[in-house]
Amino acid sequence: MSNTDLQAASSLAQPVAEPAGTHAIFIVLTLNPGDDNTATVRDLCADFEALVRSANLRDEQRSVRAVIGFGADAWERLFGASRPARLHRLPEYKGAKHVAPSTPGDVFLHLRASRMDLCFELSRQIMGKLDGAVTAADETHGFRYFDARSMVGFVDGTENPVGAEAAEAAVTGDEDPDFAGGSYVIVQKYLHDMTAWERTPVEEQERIIGRHKFDDIELSDDEKPANAHNAVTNIEDENGNELKIVRVNMPFGNPGKGEFGTYFIGYARDPAITERMLHNMFIGDPIGNYDRLLDFSTAITGSLFFVPAATLLEELAEREA
Ligand code: HEM
Repeated sequence: MSNTDLQAASSLAQPVAEPAGTHAIFIVLTLNPGDDNTATVRDLCADFEALVRSANLRDEQRSVRAVIGFGADAWERLFGASRPARLHRLPEYKGAKHVAPSTPGDVFLHLRASRMDLCFELSRQIMGKLDGAVTAADETHGFRYFDARSMVGFVDGTENPVGAEAAEAAVTGDEDPDFAGGSYVIVQKYLHDMTAWERTPVEEQERIIGRHKFDDIELSDDEKPANAHNAVTNIEDENGNELKIVRVNMPFGNPGKGEFGTYFIGYARDPAITERMLHNMFIGDPIGNYDRLLDFSTAITGSLFFVPAATLLEELAEREA
């Protein structure tokens, strides 16, 4: 895509190429049966931007960012037969030792702001509009942990693309003209075995992530094992160009319950890129070279959604399924 086309497509997009921020709420919903319920979700599409605008006006920093996406199983029911070319149900990835499950999800919300009360208020308003039309499959509240550390203590997001490169990685263009300015988002909720992780010497943890823990410097090629997290997720196309996605993971946890996790979220122009990373992590390339981070991390959810351009969202609200 030319720079002008890219700018045009990303100016239509929902905020899918922005940094992780400091507070986030992630909600995955399933759509209840019945035409009234699909109409309720379409009404939310019409109101979505206005709800976000109101929340932002109540925040001096104007930090509220919200994204709404839709899963393959619900798309036709909600918006009719014309659908994004690459939207499908996320497959399960089953390796010899670890499994990435595929779990239900029809509507996805990613709400970010500089304060949790703003995320909370917006989620309350949105869920109020959806009253009875959906059932929550999962809700996770994430937070920035020191200098953007993941729950396992390493800085997360370092190799993310930024600016125009982030838009190029996250926003769809003329490959699917009716759905330009969209994005494919894959989310997975992971729980960590922090007892086992903390018993692992830091040097070993560094070989698992592929970076040094304290200063976030990448291990050299000689030091980095083939099954390090940043080795298996670093992928290229047939011409040797690195294939990037925009990751905005957040840690979450309930220490009282002994629950410590990472909410993985990756926005991509093409979901096949994120899916190849998942294949490499769980099954391995070559097969068996799975991601060592999975020996300490269990994926308990997994879903794929299409995030329409903000302008398309308004049009979709008018559609009859
Ligand atoms: C248990 C959940 C996960 C944790 C705690 C985690 C954490 C990290 C950390 C600490 C880094 C190194 C810093 C950075 O460049 O961001 C990293 C890199 C990366 N992760 Fe993850 N991650 C998780 C899951 C995933 C998943 C599911 C994917 C893709 C499907 C993924 C894709 C990547 C990519 C592409 C990189 C950059 C690799 C490079 O250096 O080129 N991560 N992750």
